Amino acid sequence: MKIIREPLALKEYLQTVKSRLGFVPTMGALHEGHLSLIQKAKAENDFVVVSIFVNPTQFLQGEDLESYPKKEAADIKICELAGVDVLFMPNASAMYEKDEVSLQAPNVRGYVLEGTSRPGHFSGVLTVVMKLLNLVNPSRAYFGKKDAQQLHLIGLMVKNLYMNVTIVAVDTVRESDGLAMSSRNVYLSKEEHQEALKISASLKTATNLVMQKNFSVAEIKAAMRQTLAPLEVVYVEILNRDFEPLHELEVGNSVILVEALVGSTRLLDNIWL
Ligand code: PAF
Repeated sequence: MKIIREPLALKEYLQTVKSRLGFVPTMGALHEGHLSLIQKAKAENDFVVVSIFVNPTQFLQGEDLESYPKKEAADIKICELAGVDVLFMPNASAMYEKDEVSLQAPNVRGYVLEGTSRPGHFSGVLTVVMKLLNLVNPSRAYFGKKDAQQLHLIGLMVKNLYMNVTIVAVDTVRESDGLAMSSRNVYLSKEEHQEALKISASLKTATNLVMQKNFSVAEIKAAMRQTLAPLEVVYVEILNRDFEPLHELEVGNSVILVEALVGSTRLLDNIWL
């Protein structure tokens, strides 16, 4: 596995790669969720690039940029064992100049849900993903469904800007107790981990009510909030797959999303119905 830290060195190196290229962008502290993205990329392409970059522009003032988990040696081992061909690990000064052009997330879909609680977050995500896609120029890029709004906005960016890449959505990987895998789970104490299980439980509550067929969107959201109590709920939402409000649930075109604070850790989860 080749490790590259300079953006232009990566671009130059990948110009010699003629095979189908799969790309998995990450912020490191790799877990089984990332591994499933890498495995899917390996299965569908001849050459796989993974990036590890804790992107400063997607963190708001006062968020966990400085303390975001870093496990460089373990991450390198995981990528090597998974058969990654190139691991790109730039630092922030290599990726950003002091004053530069950036992308703006769309006002409606970029500033609801996580976009409301983290204004500007998705503009940072889109800008870095655009930079990374331009450097790697992959046939396919892999993103987890856990970050459903991020996945939706990246799909929108690729469509709106006529980009030449297929975005592949990969199912959420969960711990055996149901907690969605996230690099931020390491912040949770044992007690908080137990509390955090209310998040996936609230999605089970929603699924059960959907199956019974005679509950409204408002009733399902209220029942989810009951399951989540006493966690601080950031949002509970039921939208269509275009991230627009739904008055009636349409199975096959709905996503149920939840974000809650467990202690000071912000966790999100969702289910696609
Ligand atoms: O989901 C992530 O890990 C990040 O938001 C991403 C897509 C790598 C951009 O920094």
